[in-house]
Amino acid sequence: MKWKGDSISFEVYGTSHAPEVGVRATGLPKVALDEEALSRFMERRKAKNAVYSTKRVEADAPEIEIGEIFSAVIKNSNVRSGDYSDLYGVPRPSHADYAAYLSDGRLDFTGGGEFSGRLTAPLCALGGAAKQILREKGIAVSAWVSAIGNAVGANYRAGLTEEMLSAGEKGVWAPVGEEEMLSEIERAAAEKDSVGGEVQCAVTGLPGAVGGGSFGSLEGKISSLCYLIPAVKGVSFGAGFALPRMRGSQANDPFAIENGAIKIVKNDAGGINGGLSNGNPLTLSVAFRPTPSIGKEQRSVDLVKKVERAIEIKGRHDACIVPRAVPVVEAAVAIAVLDALLESGKFKSAPNDLETLRAEIDQTDKEICRLLSARYKVVREIGEVKKQKGLPVLNEGREKAVLEKVRARASRADEADAFAEVYKTIMAEAKKLEK
Ligand SMILES: Cc1cc2nc3c(=O)[nH]c(=O)nc-3n(C[C@H](O)[C@H](O)[C@H](O)COP(=O)(O)O)c2cc1C
Repeated sequence: MKWKGDSISFEVYGTSHAPEVGVRATGLPKVALDEEALSRFMERRKAKNAVYSTKRVEADAPEIEIGEIFSAVIKNSNVRSGDYSDLYGVPRPSHADYAAYLSDGRLDFTGGGEFSGRLTAPLCALGGAAKQILREKGIAVSAWVSAIGNAVGANYRAGLTEEMLSAGEKGVWAPVGEEEMLSEIERAAAEKDSVGGEVQCAVTGLPGAVGGGSFGSLEGKISSLCYLIPAVKGVSFGAGFALPRMRGSQANDPFAIENGAIKIVKNDAGGINGGLSNGNPLTLSVAFRPTPSIGKEQRSVDLVKKVERAIEIKGRHDACIVPRAVPVVEAAVAIAVLDALLESGKFKSAPNDLETLRAEIDQTDKEICRLLSARYKVVREIGEVKKQKGLPVLNEGREKAVLEKVRARASRADEADAFAEVYKTIMAEAKKLEK
């Protein structure tokens, strides 16, 4: 699957039972990433609670490469296809099985294929990077579980609090209602059933005028990425679906002046007007359906024999996926907001922001070293071939040609000499290696 933003484009690939899943992205700004912090973020997505989570626990340690292309590869180590042997040709109600069968005729629904929640691991790798980049600009993306089934926890509509903003980092739950929400999950699990819920998310520190009218709306961009998360069936901003029941006088967010600054007094618009951020915190709610795979008996059909068939799904499934989806929502929102911020032109570091500029240099150096290493690997191979064929190491004509190509690649005239000098050194070192 591919997503094309205004600056960032990425694809997530792999399936639940393939050797690996991963993400490749272009258009991210070059900044130094804290890989340990990224691993800690990915850790938050893992199944941890024996009551409501899948027994499939993966290491989820991504192999990350950052350069022109950001790439993260995550091995699927914990694959057990046997759980599905009884389900060949029998689609799980409300999973993607039947829609996938209609699309390509498949009858093997093992692990959910490319529709599996497993694909949210690479999404988190990219989103974790986007979150770090935004953090450097003072923009924080935080999410928490605000409802499970009928148990409702704290809601930003009653006021966004520090506890909500730090809930995701500490665990997943909204500051109130954790016990009731956990009981909802326990009850569903005990009945071999599942339960859904709501994740709320807030973006603080976002400047105004990020996003755009028409097709560039910030709501549209964020929603399109939230719907990349399997089991998401609703996205709303601010007061969302409560707005139709309000009068304009209740729904409108009035202006005021405080200490000489213009302020929007409340936030039922969720920090967005006309598709553009308005300087208030951006708030949204994401609705998750109950996990489709349940142990309880359900009606299905055998697509091969064309007969009705009852199924009880065994395998390893979350009775509730909502707690694990909290970092995934943060990831989706962070990618969308970063894309909009880059497009708005408000991302560029101030010319005197030495820290950011040095981080950019460090990141570029890392990439140069990786490419040099790749170049010298080929050089050693060339050395081997020349040795076998009895050819000399020095080839003046070839060196001249390389220098000409390098000069032509300089984007500014005053860089051409510098490029040529650097390459003379690179080639001198290459000759030593070839020897
Ligand atoms: C983190 C995560 C884990 C998931 N795990 C499961 C699971 O174990 N079993 C299941 O049936 N669905 C699971 N899902 C949901 C399905 O993948 C999803 O409902 C299905 O692909 C159908 O897509 P839709 O609900 O968006 O229409 C998971 C979703 C997420 C985000």
